[in-house]
Amino acid sequence: MKFPPNLLDEVRSRLLCSQVVSRKVALKRAGREFRGLSPFKTEKSPSFYVNDQKGFYHCFASGEHGDIFTFVMKTEGLSFTEAVEQLAAEAGVPLPKPDAKSAEREDERTRLQSLLEVSAKWFEENLRGPAGAEARRYVGTRGLSPDTIRRFRIGYAPPSRTALKTHLGKLGYTVEEMIRSGMLIGGEDIKEPYDRFRDRLMFPISDLKDRPIAFGGRALQKDERAKYLNSPETPLFHKGHILFNAAKARSAAHDRQRLIIVEGYMDVVSLAAAGFDESVAPLGTALTEDQMQLVWRFVPEPILCFDGDSAGKKAAYRAIDTMLPHIKPGYSAGFAFLPDGLDPDDLIRQQGADAMKDILARAVPLAQVLWDREFSSGDWSTPERKAKLQQQLMTLVNTIADPAVRGLYASAMRDRLAEAWGTNRRGDRSQRGDGYSNTRTVAAAAAEPYQIPGDQQGYQPGYQTSYQQNYSQGQGRPYPRDRNPRFGGGGGGRGGSGGRGGPWRGGEPPRPTASHSLRQSSMVGTLAGRPSYREALLMRTLVYHPWMIEAEAERIANIEFTSGALSRLRDTLISLLSSDIPLDSSSIRSQLTSAGLDKVLELLERAITHRSDRFAEPGAAEVEVEKGWRHTLALHEQQTGLRKALAAAEQAFHAEGSEDALSRIVEIQRQLASAEDIQLPDER
Ligand code: UTP
Ligand code: MN
Repeated sequence: MKFPPNLLDEVRSRLLCSQVVSRKVALKRAGREFRGLSPFKTEKSPSFYVNDQKGFYHCFASGEHGDIFTFVMKTEGLSFTEAVEQLAAEAGVPLPKPDAKSAEREDERTRLQSLLEVSAKWFEENLRGPAGAEARRYVGTRGLSPDTIRRFRIGYAPPSRTALKTHLGKLGYTVEEMIRSGMLIGGEDIKEPYDRFRDRLMFPISDLKDRPIAFGGRALQKDERAKYLNSPETPLFHKGHILFNAAKARSAAHDRQRLIIVEGYMDVVSLAAAGFDESVAPLGTALTEDQMQLVWRFVPEPILCFDGDSAGKKAAYRAIDTMLPHIKPGYSAGFAFLPDGLDPDDLIRQQGADAMKDILARAVPLAQVLWDREFSSGDWSTPERKAKLQQQLMTLVNTIADPAVRGLYASAMRDRLAEAWGTNRRGDRSQRGDGYSNTRTVAAAAAEPYQIPGDQQGYQPGYQTSYQQNYSQGQGRPYPRDRNPRFGGGGGGRGGSGGRGGPWRGGEPPRPTASHSLRQSSMVGTLAGRPSYREALLMRTLVYHPWMIEAEAERIANIEFTSGALSRLRDTLISLLSSDIPLDSSSIRSQLTSAGLDKVLELLERAITHRSDRFAEPGAAEVEVEKGWRHTLALHEQQTGLRKALAAAEQAFHAEGSEDALSRIVEIQRQLASAEDIQLPDER
């Protein structure tokens, strides 16, 4: 909706900025302004200022700046329209009237909404009243506190076929309205419309403004046909578009940058009671595309939580197919699996909130679950079967609409295939069943849910790539754990130079098979050429900050270069890890020189570093180096993915000449242009 500008001014003039801000931030007066701790960044000394005269806030720590509308949008995760509606209501400024037709629809909606609200209240009263004795006992056995009951507005529908109908009738609602709202069952062949929900514990389902728009009712009798009964589709309620507890979960999700999706109402209720307010559930159906889009408005990487039984796994697998076409840069999901036979409600009640926390910390990225699903779906022991698995995976990957993500998925799956086949060659561990998995598998996640390996940091949405996850788990790598470069001899990580080199001496090369096969793949071959600025920056950082070579060995080994010379330089750096040569800048330099790489080295050192790329300079702080290097690598990987996607699209265009392939090419080129990287002058 577009709002007239004077309306926004009117709201701004009635609400002080400090008044709105102080709902989230404790403010102290500082001269003409107010000061407090930034809500955008964790900080110890306040650098967040509010100026009421000018009506804005400014955060010196994060650079965030805006007025009351942006403030509630940013801190409560509201859309602009919602922010205006909320603040206008608070300020008592009326919103403009919509046109006649939509006004009529609006009238009906308002009527139905109030009908639902009245019903919710009536159910609540029933649970408290004499009719609710049995239901209260049930609620007690399920461990629901009075506070939780109030918060979720849980109620009780008595066994009568007419009690609600009579109550609503007295309040002036027509039977027609009662049917339209879903509260009564009526129809052509039904003479006397009657109450839909009878003898059930009632859970109101609310819209994003936390107003009841439907109900889910749980049977109290064990032999009842449907354990849960939901409102039908109504003008207010489209079950595929909303999630149980969405409104309350939204602000919690926004604050914590986490959202948990579970299967049942009771799971959400238990989770919230245990402090996980950021929980939602679909409404008796599998997660829909619209619901996925909805949760992505809350957080970019929600965690889908499934029961550990086969039905739960099936549900997770189905969710993959729903999501896959829609994942996009930054937006995906993690998958958490509960121990067999327990749902989140059971788990929390039996083992407490910490057990749940562990499960969430062990969520597995989508790419991994996809791989697990396909890999576990058959026996891949012959070349033909292997080819089939590859085909299966690529067909799925091709459903991803976003070209950059699609490209990266394709290479991630190819990596896993190479790794899986490599492992098989080494002794068929998969067939021997001795714990082979090329990373943490779904089965493993469900099987040993509480024991967290020492160096596992858990999957942090938005932080670790599936790749890192892959390796940080230290499971089933083609090398036994003690040979994994990441865990080099127990030292591991940066600073742990004690372990460097040792474990590999005389053993296999410290090179993941995956990157090897990737580099040989034809698509990468077409990229041979001059080094780009980013590639040079990545390697320059390593030359000046050699401790990074060890800390990031896996990822370094997997970088795809357009330049053959940089690729050789990388190989040399990696090979130093397994030698006795000390890893400092000057010995590295002499090694590179004796490997005939002095020209490239010179190029790296000459390459002008942008002001924003100071991390690559000698003497930059370690945290900066790490952050800058990872960021640059991410950009580089994104671009590599895009280039591959482009090559694939071009190939498809040549083969099919389709409109579709052409528009994909145009789209990828657009994205490539925005992820621009420059080519350095020829290295010779
Ligand atoms: P579950 O059967 O796993 O329910 O169904 P639950 O949440 O564990 O319920 P309790 O603990 O026995 O009370 C999960 C969800 O599937 C939908 C409901 O949304 C339920 O919360 N469902 C289930 C139905 O819609 N109808 C049914 O008959 C059963
Ligand atoms: Mn349950």
